[in-house]
Amino acid sequence: MKFEWLKDKKLVGLGPMDGVTDSPMRQLARHHGADFTSTEMISADGLVRKSKTIFKRLNFKKRERPIVAQIFGKDPQIMGEAAKMLEHDFKFDAIDVNAACPAKTVITSGHGGALLKNPGLLCSILDVVRHNTTLPVSLKTRCGYKDSSEIIKLAPKLEKTGINAIIVHGRTVLQKFQNSADKTIFNRLKSEISVPLIATGDIMNQNDIADLFAHHKVDGVLVARGALGNPWIFEGLDIIKNNPKLFLEKNQSKNLIQKIGVQEFKETVIKHLDLSIDYYGNEELACTLFRKHLLWYLGRIPGSKLLKVKASIVKSRKQVEKILQFVNC
Ligand SMILES: Cc1cc2nc3c(=O)[nH]c(=O)nc-3n(C[C@H](O)[C@H](O)[C@H](O)COP(=O)(O)O)c2cc1C
Repeated sequence: MKFEWLKDKKLVGLGPMDGVTDSPMRQLARHHGADFTSTEMISADGLVRKSKTIFKRLNFKKRERPIVAQIFGKDPQIMGEAAKMLEHDFKFDAIDVNAACPAKTVITSGHGGALLKNPGLLCSILDVVRHNTTLPVSLKTRCGYKDSSEIIKLAPKLEKTGINAIIVHGRTVLQKFQNSADKTIFNRLKSEISVPLIATGDIMNQNDIADLFAHHKVDGVLVARGALGNPWIFEGLDIIKNNPKLFLEKNQSKNLIQKIGVQEFKETVIKHLDLSIDYYGNEELACTLFRKHLLWYLGRIPGSKLLKVKASIVKSRKQVEKILQFVNC
């Protein structure tokens, strides 16, 4: 089915995370109920140059759909070419333009969050991308470069380019990940735009998702760090979408293992690892790449300090299984 950003649809998906949201993680997120998934950010320049590494990163399985491809770049024509390729050669379901990334290398070269300092260029990029694809186009940005209310003034101009949704992180680019995300921005922004508004920033558990739907005027939510070692964050979302206030009233805070059970925890970790071995086609490479995920999973359970030391050097599926034998609280 065709993917669309729709108002009031309350879509909750896996957000883009560089070096993290690879195919195995996306498959697992969809399996546990995410409404959509996102790629890691992809360089439009590299894509148009047909970089082998980037082509590899763009592989995805049917079960990851709907899947949003995120691109970054600063040349409107190249961004337009990249959008065409993502639609016709790679068959993605939607395209997201990154004007959010605060990483030093990205900013100093004028990409990602730096585009907020050049709204004219950002609008040209969105305009060209919009005209080069029939897919839904979204913009992922921060609430400002320096000041958290910049987006209120800017959003109506951005919307005029014909984009289909705006995804906003309630921190400025200069803040990077410091302080807490400003969620008060959403209600103010909502009255300035007519496209769906998707929220991101400090959404660490299901209560945070429910709180956004209950108290902030957002049409969807992008989960990022809250999904690290926690695909269960996407489970049972219908209850949250239908009655977020009731969910908040009834929810009892339990630790993760108490909530899902030790068996489910272990099976999911192994499933994630097996998806990685299948995707990367080499057990040792997959285990090395999986270490960070294993650390995130173990970080979700109490008393895992010693297990994490072992997890940081795993090289085989057997070693992962051995570590999981000690998880039983
Ligand atoms: C490790 C990591 C990598 C990220 N990579 C990207 C990226 O490639 N593109 C992007 O737009 N945002 C990226 N983000 C930002 C997230 O998508 C999200 O907007 C941000 O983390 C705020 O949400 P959270 O506080 O709920 O994690 C990344 C975040 C993290 C933690």
